[in-house]
Amino acid sequence: MTTDRFAATRADLATRIGSGRAALDVLDRFDRYGHDLVNGLAEVYDLDAVLPELMRILAANHAARPDALHARDRQRVLEPDWFQKPETIGYVCYADLFARNLDGIAERIPYLENLGVTYLHLMPVLKPRPGANDGGYAVMDYRELRDDLGTMDNLRTLATTLHDSGISLTLDLVLNHVAQEHEWATKAKAGDAAYRDYFYVYPDRTIPDQYEANLLEVFPDFAPGNFTWDDDLDGWVWTTFNSYQWDVNWSNPRVFCEFADIIANLANHGVDCLRLDAIAFIWKRMGTLCQNQDEVHAITQALRAFARIFAPALIFKAEAIVGPAQVGAYFGEGARAGKVSDIAYHNSLMVQIWAAIAARDVGLLELSLSRFKALPSNTAWGVYLRCHDDIGWAIDDSDAHQVGLNGHHHRMFLADYFTGTFYGSDARGVDFMLDPASGERRTSGTAASLAGVEQAMANASDAHVDTAINRYMCAYAMVFGFGGIPLLYMGDELGLLNDASFAQDPTKADDNRWIHRPAMAWDAATAATAEPSPDAPLPLAVAYRIRSRMQTLIDARRSLPSLHAGVATTVRAGHGRGVAIFDRAHPAGNLVQVYNLSDSPRWVGTAELAGMHGMVHDHLTGHTFDIGEGIPLSPYESRWLTTAS
Ligand code: GLC
Repeated sequence: MTTDRFAATRADLATRIGSGRAALDVLDRFDRYGHDLVNGLAEVYDLDAVLPELMRILAANHAARPDALHARDRQRVLEPDWFQKPETIGYVCYADLFARNLDGIAERIPYLENLGVTYLHLMPVLKPRPGANDGGYAVMDYRELRDDLGTMDNLRTLATTLHDSGISLTLDLVLNHVAQEHEWATKAKAGDAAYRDYFYVYPDRTIPDQYEANLLEVFPDFAPGNFTWDDDLDGWVWTTFNSYQWDVNWSNPRVFCEFADIIANLANHGVDCLRLDAIAFIWKRMGTLCQNQDEVHAITQALRAFARIFAPALIFKAEAIVGPAQVGAYFGEGARAGKVSDIAYHNSLMVQIWAAIAARDVGLLELSLSRFKALPSNTAWGVYLRCHDDIGWAIDDSDAHQVGLNGHHHRMFLADYFTGTFYGSDARGVDFMLDPASGERRTSGTAASLAGVEQAMANASDAHVDTAINRYMCAYAMVFGFGGIPLLYMGDELGLLNDASFAQDPTKADDNRWIHRPAMAWDAATAATAEPSPDAPLPLAVAYRIRSRMQTLIDARRSLPSLHAGVATTVRAGHGRGVAIFDRAHPAGNLVQVYNLSDSPRWVGTAELAGMHGMVHDHLTGHTFDIGEGIPLSPYESRWLTTAS
């Protein structure tokens, strides 16, 4: 059946797409990806309700695609692993906090180039609702930019300028919900039945209550419950996040087509990667958590196939903050392997790095990482230490049990540790969202404040500052060494600390995730490019030390073919206590990484470093030495070793 649809749809597309080289390329790509499209759609929709409209959208957007982007499409078809390469270095920032607006970003490109950045994720830039908007994740218009940032023309110009500098552009695609002020919502409120069907609306609490029996609450403190009463709708509308963010109804084929059109329009402005925000939530099923449903993956497969046919320069990054057992499906498993998202965040690695630092023990990290299946070889992890969100202490109960811990107590310990209330902790995070039933909390705070840099500076103790910086850099070494795209969060290259000034802004005050969204410190950034004088203020000295060590990590990573995302990192288990050993077995040469995540010196013998003997080269220090019986590691030291030839 879908074979017939494939042929009929191809014929339909051929009549719409016109002629010329770019049109023939589209048809070739339909031959390659058309089955993924039709099969994905067939799992969810009535094909008649979606395919003809989708081909119309594809052809219309094709006609509007600039030649330079057609050329970029061809280049990416020839180099499909462009985002998997060791040279790919990601940077994530808010346009306004980093550089005021999009033109300001263009002016800062030399700074990014200097760092080695090749992939820039600008946090939400599309037009949000006025007032509180969840950091831009309540989009009111997907075809306009936030007023103070510029226009869609500025976006197109910025993308071109970035491309000329070898930098790809990532934007957020918020596809689980829209702002209640979005045109679709306004029409629904005005009584348009077709638009009411873009949302999940219920006349009374009967069905919402049945769903609520299984749903979690994302923001229990400031947005309790998953449904919001709306007088105009005269009904309860599904709102997983804030009450002003209305979940859209992806079972409606018109919603699929609307988003395909939005995606094509963003791609035509030069966007290279779309971060699929809160993708886990887009399909609802009674009796479940309404996350990670198989339809989510069928829909993503169809969207990706559409994008590959229309604009293969575009890739997808899944924001699926889910457990090891669920995250693989976002890359595709079984028949869908390698056909869903190109990138997904490695939330578990992030949590486990922090957890190992707090516990001075890597047992849980080793066990948790061993849970992951190999990824499809055409995909990559997005690897990070901090992002704009809070950290949820996603410690699996049974993993904890296996290493002799109690999951609940460990999550409580981590929240205590990272807010500095645990005895001896120098972390300076703040609690985010208390779960009243369990007492568990999530944590906000910048990486440097969580790693102890803030407290060490307050103590003005050189030894303490050294320890905190070493701890911070060890964690970041794991991020740059893991393989996949390392995502440097804005200001982390300088060790920016918590900034409590958000509390003055009434639209932000109740959401302390803003504490780790500080404005870029350009004075420190400028000062950090040259060694400061011995009497320079401590913050500048710290920024310089962090910046130069970050550069060492970036340069080392870019030089190592074994860090291509096409091969997996494996974790050697059983070294216990604070030392983690990662292997990257690559035909270009093996890389063995050793991390001491503890605050004490450690020794790693050659038995543990199996495969490494004789002369080795450490890519982090540039030293070549005889490994002898093994290597000593000072607290928080990292080594990236290859056999020296
Ligand atoms: C994602 C974003 C988060 C936002 C949520 C709702 O999880 O990262 O910041 O609050 O989606 O859009």
